[in-house]
Amino acid sequence: EIKACLFDLDGVIVDTAKYHYIAWKELADGLGFLFTEQDNERLKGVSRTASLNILLEIGGLTIAEEEKAKLAEQKNNRYVEYIAKMDSSEILPGALDFLKECRTNGIKVALGSASKNAMTILNNTGLTPYFDAIIDGTHTSAAKPDPEVFLLGAKALDAAPEHCVVFEDAEAGIEAATRAGMFSIGIGSPETLSAANIVVPSLAHMSVSMLKESFA
Ligand code: BG6
Ligand code: MG
Repeated sequence: EIKACLFDLDGVIVDTAKYHYIAWKELADGLGFLFTEQDNERLKGVSRTASLNILLEIGGLTIAEEEKAKLAEQKNNRYVEYIAKMDSSEILPGALDFLKECRTNGIKVALGSASKNAMTILNNTGLTPYFDAIIDGTHTSAAKPDPEVFLLGAKALDAAPEHCVVFEDAEAGIEAATRAGMFSIGIGSPETLSAANIVVPSLAHMSVSMLKESFA
């Protein structure tokens, strides 16, 4: 039985993956190395600090911790400029309808995001009221693929992990769901998300009846 759905934010509910990519790319440009969209796949779902470490590894740079903190801040400042202008037009296809459908069917809804900017995005897009619980990067101590974010979400909704379904666009997020003992739906391509229980191209391809069928 499905009692709760837990959603990643960036790349599942809203199209913010592009802003993360642009902001990281600008940072790499400034540091003098090439950062491709393919490189960016490795950053998806990963915390800001961990993302920076991967980026620096790609650029072959070794940088002192204090300097790293400044770089992470520089990237985040650019990212915050982008998301400040967001509105409901940037909600991904099918996402809002599916959130509503969950509620209509008595399924609780939680956010499980690594981002410390989640509240800004939810408020700017008008999505905050659709969540029964919100767990983001300000509540967690361990980043995906650690299951913490989803376990906290399940706890907040009073649902056991075996009654939870996670929606994720990142490999690290699918791994986190699996480690939490939850059913996982990959949003994106089956190649990158092969570890998910099922994969759909977007939430426009998902419904509660389809979810119940695949969960059974
Ligand atoms: C995740 C994104 O949702 O949040 C990552 O997929 C990002 O790319 C991470 O690094 C942390 O986000 P923020 O907004 O706290 O830097
Ligand atoms: Mg994501």
